[in-house]
Amino acid sequence: MQKLILVAGATGNLGRKICRELIHKNIPVRAIVREESEQDKIDSLEKMGVDVFQLNFSNEQELIGACAGVSCVISVLAGLQEVIVDTQTKLLNAAVAAGVPRFIPSDFSTDFTLMPKGENRNFDLRMEFHEKLDKSPIQATSIFNGAFADILRYNTPVFNVPQKTVAYYGDKADWKIDFTTMDDTAAFTAEVAIEVNTPRYLRIASFQVSPNDLVHLSEQEKGSKFKLVDMGSMEGFSAYNKMQRAAHPEGEDELYPKWQQSQYVYSMFAAHHMRLDNDRYKELSWSPVEANI
Ligand SMILES: NC(=O)c1ccc[n+]([C@@H]2O[C@H](COP(=O)([O-])OP(=O)(O)OC[C@H]3O[C@@H](n4cnc5c(N)ncnc54)[C@H](OP(=O)(O)O)[C@@H]3O)[C@@H](O)[C@H]2O)c1
Repeated sequence: MQKLILVAGATGNLGRKICRELIHKNIPVRAIVREESEQDKIDSLEKMGVDVFQLNFSNEQELIGACAGVSCVISVLAGLQEVIVDTQTKLLNAAVAAGVPRFIPSDFSTDFTLMPKGENRNFDLRMEFHEKLDKSPIQATSIFNGAFADILRYNTPVFNVPQKTVAYYGDKADWKIDFTTMDDTAAFTAEVAIEVNTPRYLRIASFQVSPNDLVHLSEQEKGSKFKLVDMGSMEGFSAYNKMQRAAHPEGEDELYPKWQQSQYVYSMFAAHHMRLDNDRYKELSWSPVEANI
């Protein structure tokens, strides 16, 4: 089958980078964007060489038409139930109807298959979509990249530059956390999309660092040794997040409310990659931690 990759979510941060990687490799890319997507983002994709289809994601026939002749669908959509479950399901059904052999869902996260439901709202939505994906006749591959490395620059409790602190939970001061840059994730995803057969799950990390490693690195990279802070047990953290979610129901309509951000930090300490697939494509290189803090 001729290679033709369809990207949904191409106007987004990661989606655009995946398109760029594919175009660099001379792989034809078709992007589906919505009617209300920003025109300058569409123009910029077209300038890059992407064939952009502007359509109504609720129109089944339009979606099936866009999937015609496609060798792999990559979903890089971001959103809540309506997007991650409903829109991705429409896209999946259209891909199956059009005979697309492969589908990469919009996971790009910590390996949530290792986590129970209820600890991370945005992961629960992905688990809900996986139930449909795994019943469909398409070959699916999820890419787990841990946290995007730029999170280390957001002054979360994990690495807080103004406060000069590094937090850990439970007894996990030596727990390795997976971080991948968005560029590395995009390059790997492009390779996965081009292949004919890939496993159900692939796990990558530009680097894996523990809170103790980050303390050591702070001295080396920031010139002063950050304080390691014991934030209490994982059980206490989980209970805190659940309490915050219950107290702020308005966050249910937001993608990243404060309690959701806290759930992501919890997830960093709840699951990590025991084995990496970084070596799958020999020509890829991985950004080092020193370039990201
Ligand atoms: N591991 C991590 O640390 C981490 C961090 C951030 C993101 N991620 C994940 O990476 C993936 C991509 O995230 P991102 O930050 O690149 O997202 P983003 O920049 O917000 O882009 C989201 C994309 O989804 C499209 N979209 C949103 N709602 C839609 C709808 N109702 N119908 C059709 N298209 C819709 C947007 O289109 P418009 O331009 O039309 O709005 C845009 O193309 C997601 O799975 C996200 O959870 C992971």
